[in-house]
Amino acid sequence: MHAVVVYESMWGNTREIAEAVAQGLGEGTPVIEVATAPALPDGLDLLVVGGPTHAFSMSRPSTREDAGQRGAGADSSAPGLREWLAGLPGDFAVPIATFDTRVRTVRHLPGSAAKAAKREVERHHHGTVVDAVSFYVHDVAGPLEDGELQRAREWGAGLAAAGIDGS
Ligand SMILES: Cc1cc2nc3c(=O)[nH]c(=O)nc-3n(C[C@H](O)[C@H](O)[C@H](O)COP(=O)(O)O)c2cc1C
Repeated sequence: MHAVVVYESMWGNTREIAEAVAQGLGEGTPVIEVATAPALPDGLDLLVVGGPTHAFSMSRPSTREDAGQRGAGADSSAPGLREWLAGLPGDFAVPIATFDTRVRTVRHLPGSAAKAAKREVERHHHGTVVDAVSFYVHDVAGPLEDGELQRAREWGAGLAAAGIDGS
């Protein structure tokens, strides 16, 4: 399967998940930071995109600035997943899987960047969204909850297996 993982990450938690998903998808699967505005190769079987949940959705310039003020290491002025997805061509027909990282709260909040990315893709007819999954961090800056990297590897492997079966 020819897959690419494109991610956004302010503190590095989503990057760690992206790398684990790529391992599960198969050796050599590229993992690309969205701020580099990657152009996608021809012949792609699956695009996996992920970012941090900010204000119940994908990040925006204002939430990235907020993260920067809270000490995040990434360049908070760089474009995020929301902007990159909006720039995909309207006839983009490659299957897409979305993921995010978010905090598990006592009163579990429904909003997630993965679901927002799914809606964005569906609204603009950018291919089919095959799955949208959340992975969890302990707090705004992380770290990831125990077991999340393993779950990410397994999710990637499952996506690859589904692709190979043609299902
Ligand atoms: C401005 C801002 C808003 C956030 N809003 C939410 C939210 O609505 N729901 C949530 O679960 N986590 C929220 N978070 C926590 C992020 O999801 C968390 O910082 C992210 O998973 C860390 O991933 P990263 O290291 O890849 O940036 C927010 C964080 C920031 C900085």
